[in-house]
Amino acid sequence: MRFVFGLLLAAVVICSATAQADVAAGQSTYASRGCIGCHGAGGVSTVATYPTLKGRNGDFIRKTLTEFRSGARKNAVMNAMAAGLSDADIDNLGDYIGNLK
Ligand code: HEC
Repeated sequence: MRFVFGLLLAAVVICSATAQADVAAGQSTYASRGCIGCHGAGGVSTVATYPTLKGRNGDFIRKTLTEFRSGARKNAVMNAMAAGLSDADIDNLGDYIGNLK
């Protein structure tokens, strides 16, 4: 019983560590891919033509980036930006942006 509890605890610790890592990875992708240049620090844009991303949930971000990447949603700038993103990049960006407070 104790052993099972220990396993559960370990699983919870590992899962939350992974979630943290994805937020951190998303933040560094957001900076290194230049998203920050248009959508602003912390996802708050200061330019009217670039939407603020803070407040959008992670699922919306993942879905939207996948659509920009495939071309299902068309915007020349974002189609080009999303073209180089891997599935993991998109996951991490969703975790980072979706958790902006
Ligand atoms: C050169 C400026 C620019 C860069 C760099 C850029 N974006 Fe965008 N982004 C835009 C514009 C303009 C739109 C609005 C597109 C539209 O109207 O469909 C947009 C839209 C979006 C949207 C949809 C927002 C909504 O409310 O529907 C998301 C999500 C997004 N960008 C994420 C990103 C991410 C993540 C990166 C980095 C990989 C990035 N953008 C880089 C200009 C940029």
